[in-house]
Amino acid sequence: MNIAVIGAQWGDEGKGKIVDLLTPHVSIVARYQGGHNAGHTVNVGDAQFILHLLPSGILHPGVRCVIGNGVVVDPDALFAEIETLATQGIEVGDRLLISDKAHVILPYHRELEVLAEARRGDRRIGTTSRGIGPSYEDKVGRRGIRVADLGDTSDDGPLAAAIRENVSARNRAIGGAEADWRALHADVRAVWARLERWVGDASLFLTRAMEAGERVLFEGAQGTLLDIDHGTYPFVSSSNSTVGGLCTGLGVGPRSIGAVLGIAKAYTTRVGRGPLPTELHGTMGDQLRESGREYGASTGRPRRCGWYDAVAVRYAVRINGLDALAITKIDVLDGLDEIPLCTSYRHGDEVLTEFPSNGSTLAGCEPVYEVLAGWSSRTAGVRRYEDLPSQAKTYLKRIEAVTGVPIAIVSTGSDRADTILMTGGLIDRWQAEPALFSE
Ligand code: IMP
Repeated sequence: MNIAVIGAQWGDEGKGKIVDLLTPHVSIVARYQGGHNAGHTVNVGDAQFILHLLPSGILHPGVRCVIGNGVVVDPDALFAEIETLATQGIEVGDRLLISDKAHVILPYHRELEVLAEARRGDRRIGTTSRGIGPSYEDKVGRRGIRVADLGDTSDDGPLAAAIRENVSARNRAIGGAEADWRALHADVRAVWARLERWVGDASLFLTRAMEAGERVLFEGAQGTLLDIDHGTYPFVSSSNSTVGGLCTGLGVGPRSIGAVLGIAKAYTTRVGRGPLPTELHGTMGDQLRESGREYGASTGRPRRCGWYDAVAVRYAVRINGLDALAITKIDVLDGLDEIPLCTSYRHGDEVLTEFPSNGSTLAGCEPVYEVLAGWSSRTAGVRRYEDLPSQAKTYLKRIEAVTGVPIAIVSTGSDRADTILMTGGLIDRWQAEPALFSE
């Protein structure tokens, strides 16, 4: 009954659009990891919304949104996002619930991240500089500050002590002009006054809602290959973006997940450093970047582009138990004579059909391609499978065959309406039959 939407590549797969598309069929959308490093773009008619921290479901009036304990929350970024949405006519009101157990990002997290990246030099990760990693480090190091802790109003209580300790660690690490913990403590108190109305027990809220028969969409951020455990470590984000992170990041059991939908582009992109076996250098990569407008929604950085990598997406199928795929941005491939599809990797004398768990092996892999015919007529804006060019249908069928799961949705443009729902596919059945996945 409930569905999880998870990135099957290195993030930026177009999850925002798919979540937005599915939201009318649920009453709650819940995010379980990451923070405002994410950038989910949703186009509705002429309006464009870019969501970073709020679940994409917030665009639908009446839908309630949850930010789970697995998310790291930068209060300034949250307030800015809420204000921007208000200028676009979207009121968050009482539709938001933030887990009291979510950890916060404070200014010293951003400063420590910039310092760590600079110190790494050539070994830098290429992070988004949002303070995500250092906040998760504090959480695991058991010195983090949780959302509920901000409600401590005493002058010398546990919140003041934690801020004092963390700011003095920041001052030791960074040197130069010292940050003033008292000023930060005062700022944080002002934050609580605005935040308090949205804070609560997200696990309990979700559990009660599901018991009452409400349908939930679980919204993943980033992608499988940026997962802290299963991604291309160390070139990853600091959370579990794969399906396992959903249970820990929201406080719900695995049986609450009825189906898992993986989102993958019809090609591959990656922002930041780390191996990308099908990466295209030169004019073809530039062409994909320009026609796909492949620039980060959060940082504006150009994305690295390459062909569809079935080895990587098969791995995402395995790690997440994907039931089906949504293939996005197929229109970006319109007009190409040929489209290579990576089906395995060559590593030295070996042919690998499974994604290597070791980063240095992956870095030494060459893609093995099967070359398919491109199409000259447009897929852009096509809304019925029958209307796709035959070569595009063949391409999609090959993706299904080499990835090993059916395609449920094909996205042919950024607008909500530019979407093909595969007849009889997972989402078609899910929409028609609310109880399909409930047993
Ligand atoms: P961090 O999440 O800022 O620590 O960045 C770690 C890595 O994940 C970098 O390569 C980022 O570019 C990448 N990353 C983080 N969030 C996203 C996202 O939402 N989309 C794509 N890449 C991301």
